[in-house]
Amino acid sequence: MTPQDASAQAAKICGLAPVVPVLVVDDANDAQPLAAALVAGGLPALEVTLRTEAALDVIREMAKVAGGVVGAGTLLTPADVEAAKEAGAQFGVAPGATDKLLDACEANDLPLLPGTATSSEAMRLLQRGYWVQKFFPAEANGGAKALKAIGSPLPQIKFCPTGGVSLKNANDYLSLSNTLCVGGSWVAPKDLVAAGDWAGITALATEAAALAR
Ligand code: 3PG
Repeated sequence: MTPQDASAQAAKICGLAPVVPVLVVDDANDAQPLAAALVAGGLPALEVTLRTEAALDVIREMAKVAGGVVGAGTLLTPADVEAAKEAGAQFGVAPGATDKLLDACEANDLPLLPGTATSSEAMRLLQRGYWVQKFFPAEANGGAKALKAIGSPLPQIKFCPTGGVSLKNANDYLSLSNTLCVGGSWVAPKDLVAAGDWAGITALATEAAALAR
């Protein structure tokens, strides 16, 4: 897959809803009800971070949920890419980008949302063909103000800001012309997942899905 095709697919996935839930799931038994709750609230694109032992099983289970588009987050190595692809991930997300990681995603036909924190990183990715990028860590990097400023010289790059984004500040990003959607963990809080409060998660998802872009 070419970087241009990867970004075209990433843009489509970012276009599904204003928020991509960032999920850290410990128990694969929670995967299907959690995904179903988020999809029911209007958030079909789901990022499962590869930060728990269960993560690959979580992707496998979530991939069975109708209406969901499940991706793997925290991709760091080529081995992560292969495992995510094998588990059924339809897209990948990384906190940054290395040549090895980009090579692996392209070789494995996994559309990647590569992470960037500076203009130089964004330009390097753009030179390779990635025009859709994750701005990370968004709030710690200067937030919507910084992302807006990056958009002045680099309007052709579109972003999914993630990291410190919540219902409170999501609109600051979503109102920018270079923001396609935001990523955030607030729609699936650990306590609600642990309690199996799927209706509570659907309510949070509904609220997030109603954010204006
Ligand atoms: C992450 O990598 O955990 C994401 O950036 C989510 O960040 P958040 O928990 O601040 O939404």
